[in-house]
Amino acid sequence: MTVFRTLDDLGDVTGKVALVRVDLNVPMAEGRASDLTRIEAVAPTILELADAGAKVLLLAHFGRPKGERHSTLSLSLVQGDLGRVLGREVMFVPEVAGPIVAQAIGILGPGGIALLENTRFWPGEEKNDPEFAKAIAANGDFYVNDAFSAAHRAHASTEGLAHLLPAYAGRAMQAELVALDKALGNPVKPVAAVVGGAKVSTKLAVLEHLVARVDHLIIGGGMANTFLAARGVDVGKSLCEHDLAAQAEAIMDAADRAGCTVHLPYDVVVAKEFAANPASLRTCNVHEVAADEMILDVGPQAVEALADVLKTCHTLVWNGPLGAFETPPFDAATVALARTAAALTAEGSLVSVAGGGDTVAALNHAGVADLFSYVSTAGGAFLEWMEGRELPGVAALAR
Ligand code: 3PG
Repeated sequence: MTVFRTLDDLGDVTGKVALVRVDLNVPMAEGRASDLTRIEAVAPTILELADAGAKVLLLAHFGRPKGERHSTLSLSLVQGDLGRVLGREVMFVPEVAGPIVAQAIGILGPGGIALLENTRFWPGEEKNDPEFAKAIAANGDFYVNDAFSAAHRAHASTEGLAHLLPAYAGRAMQAELVALDKALGNPVKPVAAVVGGAKVSTKLAVLEHLVARVDHLIIGGGMANTFLAARGVDVGKSLCEHDLAAQAEAIMDAADRAGCTVHLPYDVVVAKEFAANPASLRTCNVHEVAADEMILDVGPQAVEALADVLKTCHTLVWNGPLGAFETPPFDAATVALARTAAALTAEGSLVSVAGGGDTVAALNHAGVADLFSYVSTAGGAFLEWMEGRELPGVAALAR
């Protein structure tokens, strides 16, 4: 695991300026954040630094403005929600570097908090331009990165700054790195991975990386159809990437060689149309799917067998739903297996780590997100980590 400095390694920070990279890329509805999870995640770091007497300057991106100012992507829109979550006054500064930021620092007392403008309004951010990073660093004494979900980007505020100032992982970043290490870095074996979602094409690298590391690979969602088809199963009109049959076979061969058992559903929930509780709904063996039917969820017998697999494991890493979980009853397999994982976690026999946008929504839907050992709200960064790739924002924190 990367060895990195944390807030515990900071000396006296009274009056010092902390440049803190956070992820405030939150969904908005009617001018307010519609999901506060990311703001709540970084609050402990901000409050800890402020309470220790630092002047906290927050750096973040918001959307993808591509190096230009857009009033609809100004972080001033998040200032109110941030202040409410923190229970503190937050000053907004419409720049990220230069004299206006210096002026703001002069106004802030020790423990004061300021939110700087969207870093992506400047082209130097995404280019990781050293001059841009230097201009930001000029106003700070030290740098804290608390944005794991942006750590797959080698940008000035996520990577460049870490080389210019003493760099520390914030509490959310620290928790994330510790949890991920327990899941795939140094897991207690046997390890199971659940990989679901619509398409294999987006997760080929994830599957290739996992087969060499986990004992059980549970494939669900539309992706499973591609694997079933590669094994000669007629999946009817199911979502299926037939052109990826060779890659699917290669993954199954690699799994065999590595001693990883690949679990595909042997019973499935099918329907002739994709709608909530359709009249044509039925459960059947995978070999009995009719030409005009589509697979929309893993069947109950397979779910029971998968629950038995989880009972033999000590670590679980989960990305992607098992079925079309937004549309009932195709949420049944995801909900049932997530609840089994949550119960095993509560008993203390399983470390369960999940991540990725859809996965968080699926676990929330099952009512178990709080019961997993760790749930990452990172999307792209979590997937790249599951692919075994080095994340530039994390690598730059290495001591
Ligand atoms: C996210 O929302 O996943 C992160 O904030 C990263 O955003 P990006 O994909 O625009 O870099």
